[in-house]
Amino acid sequence: MSADGRKTIFITGAASGIGLASAKRFAAAGWFVGLSDIDAAGLKSALVAIGPANGATFKLDVRDRQAWDNALGEFGKLTGGKLDVLLNNAGVARFGSLEDLSEADCDIQVDINIKGVINGARAGLAPLMAAGGRLINVASCAGLYGSPKLAVYSATKFAVRGLSEALDVEYAQHGVSVACVMPWFVETPILNAGSSGSNESMSDALKKGGLEVYPVEDAAEVVFKAATGKALHYFVGKRARQMRFATSHMPGAVRKQLRSRPLLQA
Ligand code: NAI
Repeated sequence: MSADGRKTIFITGAASGIGLASAKRFAAAGWFVGLSDIDAAGLKSALVAIGPANGATFKLDVRDRQAWDNALGEFGKLTGGKLDVLLNNAGVARFGSLEDLSEADCDIQVDINIKGVINGARAGLAPLMAAGGRLINVASCAGLYGSPKLAVYSATKFAVRGLSEALDVEYAQHGVSVACVMPWFVETPILNAGSSGSNESMSDALKKGGLEVYPVEDAAEVVFKAATGKALHYFVGKRARQMRFATSHMPGAVRKQLRSRPLLQA
């Protein structure tokens, strides 16, 4: 299989959720898709779902720097070294108060959500430069305001936003542009996340709180817009745009509201 002159995207966490929906969206638009994940079985089904002629799969743990070089090297052989978009999407969540999280719960979020994204931004620079491409990092609305019961997750997403804003400036000199996608809650398996010390899942709390959860296709559509647009920040869902406005213009009111009724309070 080869890209045959098509536009190219390499996606991490492509076996599920937003990564998979984005893979389908880009393939449908005629792009050649590098699907990567730690879930080998999920990758196999993802390739079938996008059409085997439209991509190739790569077992990649985003924490492993050598694996990044290997996967992008192999993908480059199919694309003539060209990478139009790198979608740094893989991420994990652990839901619960900080004291309910084990050390492993804390570490895995930092390792995948921050270090994994940094690894991708570094490994992807050369092939993105070759195409004058675009780096898209998936952060979250949890990167707009400190999110109760998601403290470590929220910290990682502030980090992804900070990294994206800094690289938007740094990578401009290399002809590589950057986008940061910040979704509100989206219907994917990540919502099943709990933590070592609590039985409650994020999805339980969202239902109890009556909070909006958007279809995964909405997120894929925004990722597609981010790939073809020029802005830095992109938001998934009306609630995300409202939160962006509120955190920018009335941070005191957001803090007061979170204290009186934490969004994910059970
Ligand atoms: P998901 O759980 O459906 O998919 C995550 C994928 O990442 C899975 O296929 C998983 O196997 C893969 N993955 C996990 N660890 C990995 C590793 N070390 N290396 C490579 N792949 C790994 O979750 P979803 O919702 O699709 O999440 C995608 C991104 O969107 C994440 O960064 C998440 O934080 C972010 N996000 C999701 C929201 C939501 O409500 N679903 C809201 C805001 C942001």
